[in-house]
Amino acid sequence: MKSLLQFLIAKIILLALASPIVTCYDPSPLQDYCVAINDTDGVFVNGRFCKDPTLVTSDDFYFSGLNTPGNTTNRLGYSVRDVDVRRVPGLNTLGIAIARFDFAPGSQIPPHIHPRASQIILVLKGKLFVGFVASNDYNYTLFSKVLYPGDVFAFPIGLVQFHANIGKTNAVAIGANGSQDPGVVPIGKTLFGSNPSMDPKLLAQAFALDVNTVRYLQRVFSSEDYILN
Ligand SMILES: *[C@@H]1O[C@H](CO)[C@@H](O)[C@H](O)[C@H]1NC(C)=O
Ligand SMILES: *[C@@H]1O[C@H](CO)[C@@H](O)[C@H](O)[C@H]1NC(C)=O
Ligand SMILES: *[C@@H]1O[C@H](CO)[C@@H](O)[C@H](O)[C@H]1NC(C)=O
Ligand SMILES: *[C@@H]1O[C@H](CO)[C@@H](O)[C@H](O)[C@H]1NC(C)=O
Repeated sequence: MKSLLQFLIAKIILLALASPIVTCYDPSPLQDYCVAINDTDGVFVNGRFCKDPTLVTSDDFYFSGLNTPGNTTNRLGYSVRDVDVRRVPGLNTLGIAIARFDFAPGSQIPPHIHPRASQIILVLKGKLFVGFVASNDYNYTLFSKVLYPGDVFAFPIGLVQFHANIGKTNAVAIGANGSQDPGVVPIGKTLFGSNPSMDPKLLAQAFALDVNTVRYLQRVFSSEDYILN
C-alpha cells in the first residue's frame, strides 16, 4: 500500500515536471490585448508586461516599411525584416508574427530551426528552393519544393529548414510565424559561433572534421551574426 502511494506521488511529480514542455506554445489570450511595455510595474502576460489598456493606441498594432527591401550585402546575400513583438508591441499574447525576406541571386538563408513556431511563406518575386528535414521518427526525410510567385510553403515547428534563391533575379517572400516571438536556432552559428566557444576537439569528433577546419568555422561563425535588419 505504502509503495503504491509512493509510486503515485512519484508519478504526479513527474507529470508536473513534464507539463511545462507540453504547454510551451503561446497560450490563448484571456483579454482582448496585452500590449507589451518595457516597464516592469504592470501585469506580466506571455513573456511581456502589459501596457495600461486605457493608454493603448492604434500605433501599438502598427508597423510600416515592409514594402522596402532589406540590405542583402552580406556573406550569404539575404536579409530578413522581422516584424514580431519587438516591433509591434500589440502582438504580445497573439501568437503571430510576419517577416519580409530578400534574396540576392544565388543567396540563401542557411539551415535553421524556429523553436517556438511553425512558419508559412508566400513568394512574391523570383524562384526559391525551400524545404525542411523530418526528425529521426520520420527517417530524416527531406521535403522540398521549387517556388515561384504566388506559391506558398509551410514549415513545421522545430524542424531544420532552409530557403535558397536559385533564380537569376532577386527574390522576395513574405512569411508568417505562429508565435509572437518564434526564436531562431541557426545551425552553423549555434554550433560554431557559440558564446563561449565549444571545445574544437569535441566538435571535430562530433562532425567528423579535423580540428583546423573546426577552428576555421569557429572564426567565421563567431564574427558574424544571423542576419536580421
Ligand atoms: C523596449 O526596449 C527595447 C530594447 O531596449 C527597445 O528596442 C524597444 O523599442 C522598447 N519598447 C518600447 C515599447 O519602449
Ligand atoms: C548594407 O550593408 C553593408 C554591410 O554591412 C553596408 O556596408 C552598406 O552600407 C549597407 N547599405 C545600405 C544601403 O544600408
Ligand atoms: C521509416 O523507416 C522505417 C524502417 O524502414 C519504416 O518502417 C517506416 O515506415 C518509415 N517511416 C516513415 C514515416 O517514412
Ligand atoms: C519567424 O520568426 C523568426 C524569429 O523571430 C524570424 O527570424 C523569421 O524571419 C520569422 N519567419 C517568418 C516567416 O515570419
